[in-house]
Amino acid sequence: MTAESSDAAVPSRRPALGFIGGGVMAEALIEAVTGSCLAPPGTILVGEVDEERRRVLHERHGVEVTADNLAAAAAELVVLAVKPQQSGVVLQQLRGQLREDTIVVSIIAGTRLQTLCEGLEHPFVVRAMPNTPARVRKAATFWCASAGSSKPALLRVRSLLGALGTEVEVADEAGVEMATGLAGPMPAFVFFLIEAFIDAGVVLGLPRDQATLATVESMRGSMELLHRTQESPAALRKQVTSPGGATLAGLKVLESAGVRETMGAAVRAVHARAQELGRQPLASPESGKEG
Ligand SMILES: NC(=O)c1ccc[n+]([C@@H]2O[C@H](COP(=O)([O-])OP(=O)(O)OC[C@H]3O[C@@H](n4cnc5c(N)ncnc54)[C@H](OP(=O)(O)O)[C@@H]3O)[C@@H](O)[C@H]2O)c1
Repeated sequence: MTAESSDAAVPSRRPALGFIGGGVMAEALIEAVTGSCLAPPGTILVGEVDEERRRVLHERHGVEVTADNLAAAAAELVVLAVKPQQSGVVLQQLRGQLREDTIVVSIIAGTRLQTLCEGLEHPFVVRAMPNTPARVRKAATFWCASAGSSKPALLRVRSLLGALGTEVEVADEAGVEMATGLAGPMPAFVFFLIEAFIDAGVVLGLPRDQATLATVESMRGSMELLHRTQESPAALRKQVTSPGGATLAGLKVLESAGVRETMGAAVRAVHARAQELGRQPLASPESGKEG
């Protein structure tokens, strides 16, 4: 089926899962839920403004796609997956249009529950912060729900987010926002480090493929060690740092360059920027693309 024909053939049955926005994160979630058989592709409807993107999602994952966000929002569980700057347009479009029993999960960084509930005129909204390892079902997702959420709805949300990897329900939005600073950007931070270490290996004289292997496999092994032994990162670090040894020489360089403090500053910058994005006035439909 082509993307065009699937546009025309939006399912007559109520979709189980709808996405508003079919970008990077929506695709990661689609991979996870179809991979875990939580929702077959035919029960998923993605509302996405970009025609080429709709075609790609349909061809790669077999999901139904549409340019009509209201059709996607008719699903039993609707995931809001647009950029914070696009959320105003989407909230205006969907305001008062959701069925009473619709479960809404927003993964939009920064946009607060009150804004979402008021903007949608919908009482029950979950705010969640997953990350891209959802693609391989290894996300760490922190989430919280608006007051008055029903138990069955919460169970449904838990099973969706559980299909992405590890899910943690936190008491309030502050917890989700702090996780936004840490878990949200963590894949980017880790890939940044990997790039830097590979380059360092190449500068030493290793061929790039060997530098890549040395970096990636050592990182993977270290994660596995941490996971399986349940020892603290500090204890595991000390085990490989003998006094006067070579590893200590490297760690001293990292400490004296203030790498720890720089990492703290990076996390705080993400947290602050996400909050800033959430405080920005919501754009009107006229200032954004129609979906
Ligand atoms: N990336 C991450 O690691 C991550 C992690 C956790 C949470 N998040 C959050 O997840 C959300 C999505 O991030 P992303 O990285 O997936 O962004 P993205 O790749 O830009 O995806 C957003 C998609 O929505 C489309 N869109 C824009 N306006 C629309 C509208 N009115 N109706 C329907 N679709 C519309 C965009 O199309 P155009 O490109 O044509 O505008 C784009 O394809 C963001 O709020 C972000 O804060 C991201």
